[in-house]
Amino acid sequence: MEESNLLLKQLVSLTQDETNLTANLANISAFLYDQLPNVSWSGFYLFDSTEQMLILGPFQGKPACTRIGIGKGVCGQAFQTKQTIIVENVHLFPGHIACDSTTNAEIVVPLTSSQGAAVGVLDLDSRRFGRFKAKDQQFFERIAKIAQKNWD
Ligand code: SME
Repeated sequence: MEESNLLLKQLVSLTQDETNLTANLANISAFLYDQLPNVSWSGFYLFDSTEQMLILGPFQGKPACTRIGIGKGVCGQAFQTKQTIIVENVHLFPGHIACDSTTNAEIVVPLTSSQGAAVGVLDLDSRRFGRFKAKDQQFFERIAKIAQKNWD
């Protein structure tokens, strides 16, 4: 818990003086990829209201699927329901979209604007089954709050 508080403080100081959304999302994804153990991909999918789709945003890791329909995959479902989804084994998740066949576990946290609208998701993948647990949910939701800071 101590360590996750330190990581959250570091994320706040990394982003607090920058108002540009892309710059902050890029640094958040890089920070998480660099600092968290057993994370193979970390990044954002952003809602495009014209296309009515989630489109790949800043990330770290292997190249990934660029577009995800609302309600599709773990990302599209977390976005649609505005609920965090933790997947201990992606191979058992109906509709999981496999951008990288070596991924075994995933967490997706929805992002909301200051008006409460769904604007995207934070997505982390791992090759380790069960990497993300229910007890980690609050930590990742606090990261999402930091990422939402400049969304109006
Ligand atoms: N697995 C996700 C797709 C995005 S990648 O993990 C980067 C999903 O099912 O929505």
